[in-house]
Amino acid sequence: MHYEQRNPLPIPAEGAFESVRATVETILDWQYELRKQNLLALYEKGKTLTWNANDLDWSIDVDPERLVRQRVAGGAATIMNSVMNPPIHLSDEELVRMQLNMNAFMLSQFLHGEQGALIATAKIVQGVPWEEAKFYAANQVADEARHVEVYHRYLTEKLGLSYGVNRELRQLLDAIIEDPRWDMTFLGMQIMVEGLALAAFGVTRLQMADEPLIQDLIGRVMQDESRHVAFGVLSLADLYKEMTAAELREREDFVIEATHLLRDRLLMEAVFERLGWDVRIWVDWAKTTPFMAGFRQMMFSKIVPNLKRLGLLTPRVREEYGKLGLLQFENMKDSVEDPEVTPPQELVELLMRFMANSAASPGGVSSAA
Ligand SMILES: [Fe+2]
Ligand SMILES: [Fe+2]
Repeated sequence: MHYEQRNPLPIPAEGAFESVRATVETILDWQYELRKQNLLALYEKGKTLTWNANDLDWSIDVDPERLVRQRVAGGAATIMNSVMNPPIHLSDEELVRMQLNMNAFMLSQFLHGEQGALIATAKIVQGVPWEEAKFYAANQVADEARHVEVYHRYLTEKLGLSYGVNRELRQLLDAIIEDPRWDMTFLGMQIMVEGLALAAFGVTRLQMADEPLIQDLIGRVMQDESRHVAFGVLSLADLYKEMTAAELREREDFVIEATHLLRDRLLMEAVFERLGWDVRIWVDWAKTTPFMAGFRQMMFSKIVPNLKRLGLLTPRVREEYGKLGLLQFENMKDSVEDPEVTPPQELVELLMRFMANSAASPGGVSSAA
């Protein structure tokens, strides 16, 4: 595939290349025994359902500014000022810039997360002890390369606005890559990062309902991601039951740390910086206003039931998740029960209210996160 990088991504202050020492004990499996049928079925499905970046219609003219301006002109400004309750009343122009930048920030972090997934999954190919899991992970590596490709093309060729990797996401990706234990790679990538991505992709798709190229792109990526998350859940099944208390405690610490990093990356500090707004005031707003808190909580709607299924919603994790308002998702379907991703009804309603033509109060979401 060839495409023109019209708007290259911003390079981090530390430079274009980052070197991380990935430590992984590599296992070769000489018996090639294929026991886990559920992983083999997933592998077959992955191969059958693969697609090519060229299948997307890249000739579609993407003009997000026109779409956002139409929405604002259609009355969304009043609703946004009411629902989001910003620290100052935002003019139409400010609302347009904020929306475009938040959108570009989210899509850019999707791209960076995809690169992390590409690297982490390659590490799983090496470290996981069973042949059938190596097969699936290899299939996922190819998926992730394609995801990097399509998000990168979309951002540089179509959107023209992009962000470098967010500090917290980078910290989490580095931690996942550096950790020598194969189950931690699964836990960090397939359960936490990809679990959050599934919910976040769903939200972006709803928010950009009037842009056909991103609809097709995210729709295809989400189908792959739902298999990736299922891969993690199936591979880690029963593992934590056999662990010692000390080993389990390390996993709990990892989950809690990853949760904080994923939540903080959604405060979108870089957006306020780019807009030239008072970062302290706006980050404080992002932390406390019910709309933004509800938005962050819903990003965990897939992670929580999956952690529960794996036996990682332990009293310690539960206590932390209670404080963050995340236990509301514990009885939702996990990725084995519901491999397709149904965005939480609460989320759909919130967004519909946000985009509808009548003012409404957010209600129903607590401000804990
Ligand atoms: Fe991906
Ligand atoms: Fe993935």
